[in-house]
Amino acid sequence: MTASYTLPDGFRYLPGHFDRPAQAALIEAVVAATRSAPFWRPAMPRTGQPLSVMMTNFGPLGWVTDQAKGYRYEPCHPQTGQAWPEIPPALLQLWHEFAAHQAPPEACLVNWYAPGSRMGMHIDWDEAATDAAVLSVSLGDKARFRIGGPQRGGKTGSIVVSSGDVVVLGGAARRCYHGVDRIYPGTSTLLPEQHFPGGGRINLTLRRVNRP
Ligand code: SIN
Ligand code: MN
Repeated sequence: MTASYTLPDGFRYLPGHFDRPAQAALIEAVVAATRSAPFWRPAMPRTGQPLSVMMTNFGPLGWVTDQAKGYRYEPCHPQTGQAWPEIPPALLQLWHEFAAHQAPPEACLVNWYAPGSRMGMHIDWDEAATDAAVLSVSLGDKARFRIGGPQRGGKTGSIVVSSGDVVVLGGAARRCYHGVDRIYPGTSTLLPEQHFPGGGRINLTLRRVNRP
């Protein structure tokens, strides 16, 4: 973290929250989910430019984006038309412990960062339930996670997140810019090559979308 940047209130970093068996169980749940909800590559609103990550979701709602309709939550997979698979119990437990919210999460976005993938600085704006934290679980290769303030272009700091780490964006941090500069390919053996050709990193983000 750079000397001049102060982390926003509500930011929490829980290194090694999930041990290796728990990480492997989460990856198994992702693999099982992709049988009915395969990874797809979403497109940016208006330009239609593809995102560098592949995505799928768990939960009653899933975050999607395409050229025509932009960023939003949908109850069904854009390609199969099927409902998203259920959120795994270990993630519901995580929510219960750290989200500081009375209602359950409605969406768990699954991002797959293959080597070379990144995520530009953004704020999660598409949820009405802004009082609930966003919980982020890192699995697989390490990545440089960057967080700033509520204005684009302000000071930022970064941490290297590893497999099993959890980041909590609650309070003021819920409305702060954040992104992923890069991943560090080959720094984890968690992702099975058979299901994740080329390896990389899986990030799970749990969100409450609607106000209860
Ligand atoms: C996100 O902000 O959607 C993802 C963050 C991460 O991959 O760590
Ligand atoms: Mn985000």
